[in-house]
Amino acid sequence: MSGLFITMEGTDGAGKSTQLDLLNKYLKDKGFNVVFVREPGGTKISEKIRNIILDIDNKEMHYMTEAFLYASSRTQLVNEVIIPELKKGSVVICDRFVDSSIVYQGIARNLGVEVVRKINNIATGGLIPDITFFLDLSPDKAIERKKEQKELDRLEREKSQFYNKVYEGYKMLIEEEGERIKVIDATQSIEVIHNNIVNYLENLFF
Ligand code: TYD
Repeated sequence: MSGLFITMEGTDGAGKSTQLDLLNKYLKDKGFNVVFVREPGGTKISEKIRNIILDIDNKEMHYMTEAFLYASSRTQLVNEVIIPELKKGSVVICDRFVDSSIVYQGIARNLGVEVVRKINNIATGGLIPDITFFLDLSPDKAIERKKEQKELDRLEREKSQFYNKVYEGYKMLIEEEGERIKVIDATQSIEVIHNNIVNYLENLFF
């Protein structure tokens, strides 16, 4: 495949959305055909699945159901958007991908990394991002930032213990896949974070 597949990961509240907007704009200004999608979501069907997952009414949802729903949403996104766009040579930016499932479902929800990997290998056909940025913000700071927002979705209502596990999960994943996952200190200014991201891309790909 000739395109470039970039994903962004982070604990809730790490400032992912701001950085994704800036990255999107930067790549478009460079003249790339950029396709930006978010997970869970990014297609009509995947957005419907997203609504089921994040609905605060669905308190009884089994963790394995949740894992399968994320994977289903992902299958649709990979086949409907990501692979066709990469084949056309586009730069695809994805807000979260398989790493989120490994960490949130596999580690924080305790389903096990291997089970979640297996489901996701089937879901994605083994597609791996060319590069992943992890916006690194400690759980305490992430929760502080969260409190400033009014509406919290179902997952965001989880206890701080959950955020700690998510953070530890990312750290474990980074130890295993440090080559692909680039860690960015998310306590830096918006501009400095953006420059870090751009520097990695320019050094590795452009
Ligand atoms: P979202 O509103 O997109 O939050 P954020 O801005 O933090 O990305 O909600 C996504 C939530 O879903 C977030 O709490 C992380 C979680 N999630 C999983 O648990 N597993 C996954 O595979 C994905 C993609 C997200």
